Order: sequence, then C-alpha cells, then structure tokens
Amino acid sequence: AEAKPVRIDLKEENEFRLTPEDLNEKITEKTKMLITCYPNNPTGAVLLEEDYKAISEICEDHDIFLLSDDVYEKIVYDYKPQCFKKYYEKTVITNSFSKTYAMTGWRIGFVAAEKEYITPMLRIHQYAAGCLNTPTQEAAYAALKSDQECVREMVREYRKRRDYVVKKLNEMGLKTILPKGTFYCYPNISSTGMNSVEFSNYLLEKCRVVVVPGTAFGDNGKDFVRVSFATSLEKIKEAMERIENVI
Ligand SMILES: Cc1ncc(COP(=O)(O)O)c(C=O)c1O
Repeated sequence: AEAKPVRIDLKEENEFRLTPEDLNEKITEKTKMLITCYPNNPTGAVLLEEDYKAISEICEDHDIFLLSDDVYEKIVYDYKPQCFKKYYEKTVITNSFSKTYAMTGWRIGFVAAEKEYITPMLRIHQYAAGCLNTPTQEAAYAALKSDQECVREMVREYRKRRDYVVKKLNEMGLKTILPKGTFYCYPNISSTGMNSVEFSNYLLEKCRVVVVPGTAFGDNGKDFVRVSFATSLEKIKEAMERIENVI
C-alpha cells in the first residue's frame, strides 16, 4: 500500500511505555494507523489504564486506525489485561494461540474488529489462505473451551522464572526492569562496555547462551538485549551461571 512506517522509540525511563507525548510528536496529517504491541515484545512492558485511554483519544482525534497486537495479553503478572477496543471503536486486534496455549507452529491466530473493518480484510485473506487444517481448528477450539487452568499454571511458572532471571541479571550489574507481561526481560547491558550485538555475540561465543540484540527491534535497542524465559528453570539457572562466569 506504499505506506511509510514511522517508528516511535520506547524509552527506558518510561519503562518502555508508549506515552501520549511520544505519540503526539510523531503523528502528522498523513498518519493512517498506529500499530502497538502490549504486553510488549521485547521489553515485557505493559500500558497503564490511563495510557490506553490517552492513546485511544489521540487516535480518535486524528481519526486513525489502531492496530493492537495482543498476543501476550494472557501472560501478565499482577496486572489486569486491558484492551484498546474498550476505548476506541476503530481498533483492530490481532491475536494468536502461539503464546497463551504454547501452540507456536500450529499457525493459528485471529483478528477482532467491527464487521465493517473485517469484511475488506476477507477480500485479501480468502485468496491468500485456503483454510486452516481441521486438527488445528479442533485443538484451538479445545484450548478455548478448557477451564484455562493450563494458562494460569504456565503464568505461575513464568513468574518464578521471571523473578529468578531479573534478580540474577540485576545482581550481575545488568539493570533489568521487572517485566509485568510476556516471557521476556530486557536488560540494559551498557555497563559491559559492549553494544547489543557485541554482547550477544560475546555470550554466544564465550558461554553458548543465546540472547537477542536489542537492535533487532530498532536502533534504540543498542544498549539492551532480550532475554527469554520461555524455557525450563533448570536451563535458565544453567544459562545465568554461565553468563555470571564470563562477565
Ligand atoms: C508480538 C508478537 N506478535 C506476533 C507474534 C507471532 O505470533 P504467531 O507465531 O502466532 O504468528 C509474535 C511471536 O513471536 C510476537 O512476539
């Protein structure tokens, strides 16, 4: 559609929340859509209720679409999931079974929006994908109909891992904000004197631990790496010990 994407840098001092000020600074009369992702990959940040309201109001004032990637909505700690749709009618929500039900690879997701916005999407979608295979549909149906205890159980587990990882990283001098959502944290690695790519390569070579350089998500990620705790606590403990031995 020849749209020009304009990035908004999320700042550590705002705990990586998209602030109304930052958004207002980038909006012009040419802006058509705001794309957001909260709970946020890679920072683990969430938005406050007042942020949802203020961002919705700005979108409404400028009459632009708001596309909200909500894939981590169920992976939250001491935080009540919010939804832009509650505040703004012109919201399009994308979601997936990959995170909530660990169904990554099954390739099933969904879009939620007012019918008038969904209908035009179908014109493209129905020619791009024939249909989703039946076993995946059945699995997704079973997931949605279940009592959701599997989700709560995993969130309890992620919380344990999160608390451990964040404590360890901070003890190592890598300043890490406690994420309120997702299974990622985003340590500031500037104290090592390396940038995000150098540090990621260093860990890979020195101790065979994989993290993602912050610059994979934008230039302002140069002082950060993304650490995932979507693996067992046992493996995470091993990884943290290895990192501790080389920094
Ligand atoms: C923010 C975000 N959106 C979307 C996706 C993609 O989800 P899926 O694998 O179900 O397409 C991911 C997966 O990593 C993600 O982190």
